[in-house]
Amino acid sequence: MTERDLVLVGFGNVGRRFVRLIDELRDRLEQREHASFRVIGLATGRHGSMFDPRGIDGARACAVVEAGERLLPGAFSSTSGVACRDAFDVIARAAASSPGGRAALLETTTLNVEDGEPAASHLIAALDAGVHAITANKGPVACRYAEIAARAARARRTFRFEGAVMDGIPVFNLAREALRGVEVTGVRGVVNSTTQFILAEMERGVSFEAALAEMQRKGIAEADATLDVDGWDAAAKIAALANVLMDARITPADVDRTGITALTPGDLREAIDAGERLRLVGSARRVAGRITARVAPTRVPASELFAQLPGMANALTYETDLLDEITVIQGGGGLVQTAYALLSDLLSLPAPE
Ligand SMILES: NC(=O)c1ccc[n+]([C@@H]2O[C@H](COP(=O)([O-])OP(=O)(O)OC[C@H]3O[C@@H](n4cnc5c(N)ncnc54)[C@H](OP(=O)(O)O)[C@@H]3O)[C@@H](O)[C@H]2O)c1
Repeated sequence: MTERDLVLVGFGNVGRRFVRLIDELRDRLEQREHASFRVIGLATGRHGSMFDPRGIDGARACAVVEAGERLLPGAFSSTSGVACRDAFDVIARAAASSPGGRAALLETTTLNVEDGEPAASHLIAALDAGVHAITANKGPVACRYAEIAARAARARRTFRFEGAVMDGIPVFNLAREALRGVEVTGVRGVVNSTTQFILAEMERGVSFEAALAEMQRKGIAEADATLDVDGWDAAAKIAALANVLMDARITPADVDRTGITALTPGDLREAIDAGERLRLVGSARRVAGRITARVAPTRVPASELFAQLPGMANALTYETDLLDEITVIQGGGGLVQTAYALLSDLLSLPAPE
């Protein structure tokens, strides 16, 4: 049995769903994966941070945060825990108490497409201290992938980020595990559910504002929805894909980006009348040694897959040298899928030393 000690930095929708998921799957994980997990550290922005090497009751921690209260060791059954200053304090304590690659950081703080902070610093602090680093946050992968991957290699620890693009659909693991020896020469895709839904709704006569409000109500839109509608989320995903799959070394700011806010119902109707659909398509390609990356509303023939994606579906096409094109479709995303992305990364870690 592999026993892992977990530190969660960020304990919002994704972090809490993850803690509940590993509770729900406890028997399956023990029997099939021979893995058991114990949460020893939690760090948040406004709800306090704590460390307890004897283990934190995940369900109670979820209830505390959902009640708007602070995580204080006294509120839990074990009294051996300590309140911590911040995420770095929790990571340092976990590294000291769980050496030998037994500890893993699960980073799910708020998205920042400008510089990937504070997530990038949390991941680096963990790796430098000998803790494996896993995130569902696309910011650090989009902004500082090469640097963080180099820190992981130097520390002989693992950096994984499957949840950064298309939730739990294995877009990075597919390339890492199943496309060995293949060169990915380009990617293109519909990778943002909020804009995909808004465009499909506008085609049915629903207003932009009403469709966006529905995405916000369902918790699918980013906390700051301008990141979706202005194309920043898609640009960050394209930058992350290009960095990991094509060694692009770009940031979201390097992506030529146009969002969907200027589109009118007339634009959508015009495309339909011409046998096409308007979709927010992102792409990255290496042309004459240089990476060009773009996100923009694009007219796609109605017969093509990107035009036919229903509801909030996403799709990503890999352009390769040996296998032509491979396309992965995500029917619909959600918190369970993102929580699973963290779990799948966790299960792929090397055994502790
Ligand atoms: N929601 C999804 O379906 C989804 C899907 C794929 C990827 N993601 C990515 O996953 C990440 C988390 O999403 P979410 O929906 O869980 O967001 P969320 O509910 O807003 O939670 C964010 C968490 O980060 C904490 N936080 C913020 N700054 C911090 C800091 N400096 N130190 C420690 N904790 C800090 C917040 O604490 P306080 O609340 O106490 O301030 C909160 O616990 C984001 O990067 C998002 O892009 C989300």
